[in-house]
Amino acid sequence: MSRIICIDFGSAFTKVAVRIDLNKPSPIITDERLSSDPLKFCIPTLAAKSTRSDGVKWAFGPDASTQSPSEQITVFRNWKSQLFGSRKPERAVKEATVKYFEWLREFLATPCSKVGLKDLSVVPARICVPDFSVHGRSNDDFSPTEQFLQDALREAGWLPDDDRPVVTEPQSNIIGIYTQGANATSPPGASKGKKTINFMRMFKRGGYFSALKDASTGYSEATIHSVLVLDIGAYTSDFAHIEFDLTDAKAPPQITSSSLVAGIQQLDESVVKRLPKSKAAAFESLNQNAREAMKRAIYSEATSYKLPGNLTVGADKERGLIQECVDHFAEKVEAGLAKFILQNKIGQLNEVFLTGGGNMIPTINSCLEKSVRKMDLSTSLVHSLTGHAQSHPTYYYDVLGPLHGRGSSGLGGASVYFEEKYW
Ligand SMILES: Nc1ncnc2c1ncn2[C@@H]1O[C@H](COP(=O)(O)OP(=O)(O)OP(=O)(O)O)[C@@H](O)[C@H]1O
Ligand SMILES: [Mg+2]
Repeated sequence: MSRIICIDFGSAFTKVAVRIDLNKPSPIITDERLSSDPLKFCIPTLAAKSTRSDGVKWAFGPDASTQSPSEQITVFRNWKSQLFGSRKPERAVKEATVKYFEWLREFLATPCSKVGLKDLSVVPARICVPDFSVHGRSNDDFSPTEQFLQDALREAGWLPDDDRPVVTEPQSNIIGIYTQGANATSPPGASKGKKTINFMRMFKRGGYFSALKDASTGYSEATIHSVLVLDIGAYTSDFAHIEFDLTDAKAPPQITSSSLVAGIQQLDESVVKRLPKSKAAAFESLNQNAREAMKRAIYSEATSYKLPGNLTVGADKERGLIQECVDHFAEKVEAGLAKFILQNKIGQLNEVFLTGGGNMIPTINSCLEKSVRKMDLSTSLVHSLTGHAQSHPTYYYDVLGPLHGRGSSGLGGASVYFEEKYW
């Protein structure tokens, strides 16, 4: 089957990509209705349920972004943490998940038909989940939440892929980033009548290819090319490492990955705890668009933000308090990174990608960049969402476009890489 749709079910934003051909790049799905995203592919993972005398009404995605919680309106946001948490999710949360997936299928019908997918109920679907497994896992060894998500998709009219309905976000992310959504298979006949993935063509991008060239011409003695992606999302920070064997260009690369519960949602919670009660309540009552605007102001732009009720957040002394929370959060991710490097015995790291919404916050991004530099793992290329392209004495700093900085898990999850029948 050449077609697949991948739902990167993010805690804050869902991103969707489709593969339409085994040898063509997968597009990410964009839609003009996603007006608050300049690139039009981040779909708010939001559901608002209003219960009034005339009945129950639901709104989702961009339509729910303008709804504020009230006595009549329950806004479901960041509920992924409840699905994956240690306590059983509430029934209302499970209901919101199914309803959201139903809406998502309808919402995507028009943009998907533009790329040739007419009926989404017959296109195999794959969903991205965090990687909480400690000792690795087999592909059909699902946790109860992973099973629930597949059942919810089915109930909502999707068709979970038979072979690989679930893929972990760090793995799909690194594949998406490092292939930039490319798919490549060799024609049958090239390998005993069976189509096989052409890894060299799939990973035909800068860093790896030049390392391969340098190794094959004897210009360098390196035998591996090693790449790390650190994605800070709303719920988890995802770590993934890919290693290419430069002595055998046809060998599949090796991937290790894990997710840590350390996302911007936790930063929000720590800030709310330290704000005066009136401001904390005003923040919690904001609609999603206003919440995002406030977070951009107080985390990224280091400015203050006007809340309803003539309250200002992030001015004067509060600025320092918020920065403390941001720094503390960055340190937590930094510690997670150090642990990941140690546990996986990574001794060389040629390229590092710092991605996800959390890496849009300059102080977090620069803390992690410094941390990578301090590790002294021969890093020569850092790709980041913030700042500008520049050369340091020992490495080059490259600016990632938001499409690859935020959309790669969807892109990678749709990749032919995840179909072992082509290996
Ligand atoms: N410029 C910015 N300033 C502050 N926060 C930002 C900025 N851009 C994005 N964010 C925050 O980043 C988070 C979204 O990032 P992302 O889309 O990577 O997460 P996600 O994929 O939904 O989460 P996860 O993968 O953990 O489930 C949101 O909490 C959002 O408020
Ligand atoms: Mg994510």
